[in-house]
Amino acid sequence: MPASESELLHSWHHNARAWIDAIRTGAIESRREVTDQAILLAVLSQQPEHVLDLGCGEGWLLRALAKRAIDAVGVDGDATLVEAARAAGSPAVHLASYEELVQAKVDIGSGYDLICANFALLHQDIIPLLTTMHALLVPGGKLVIQTLHPWSTAAGVYQDGWRQETFAGFKGQWQPMPWYFRTLSSWLNALDMGGFGLAGLQEPQHPQGVGPQSLLLVATRRSVFGRRLD
Ligand SMILES: C[S@@+](CC[C@H](N)C(=O)[O-])C[C@H]1O[C@@H](n2cnc3c(N)ncnc32)[C@H](O)[C@@H]1O
Repeated sequence: MPASESELLHSWHHNARAWIDAIRTGAIESRREVTDQAILLAVLSQQPEHVLDLGCGEGWLLRALAKRAIDAVGVDGDATLVEAARAAGSPAVHLASYEELVQAKVDIGSGYDLICANFALLHQDIIPLLTTMHALLVPGGKLVIQTLHPWSTAAGVYQDGWRQETFAGFKGQWQPMPWYFRTLSSWLNALDMGGFGLAGLQEPQHPQGVGPQSLLLVATRRSVFGRRLD
């Protein structure tokens, strides 16, 4: 695993407690006001029955889906977050890093009709993970990704590359997190290479806001890309 990618997951081991507090106290305004609702509606609008939440964190989305009688399974690479999700009422949460998923070291089930990743694809080489998720979806299944909006976060450099989140302004002790900035075309290429076709793109924003709070991509599992996969 490249150094930045292991540092990324390591930062979550360090930041897990502070993250749980931030999420459960509603401390992140953009989530409270815009992006939580956006991903939830995007998932619900697909009317899924069996959902995998990839990089589920402390599990807020699992709980929101379970409340609506949707069978939701989570997976995350941080043990503290997985434990918090289970303790908050989601028994089906697996502990596995993305690398372990790609190497099929952990069985997290299959036959999902939707997989979502809410601000959870932060590493560089996402194509092997997307290909792995492709195999866990039913034919025609959906992938819903919400991520940092490339134009809102570019800060003058619109080019793929590693950045650093310092969590300035967040309460508590945080370790900086490396994350990989991806342009819009880079996102679309990665989906294509992973075997997905773009089905929808949203740029959720606050009605009084001046720009998008996120980029939300809905993609359909393709049966064929180069070779037949199912
Ligand atoms: C910004 S949090 C989002 C959590 C959750 N999806 C939410 O909406 O609150 C990113 C999540 O990705 C997980 N993650 C990051 N890199 C990972 C990796 N390599 N393997 C497994 N999980 C990873 C972290 O543990 C963390 O829970």
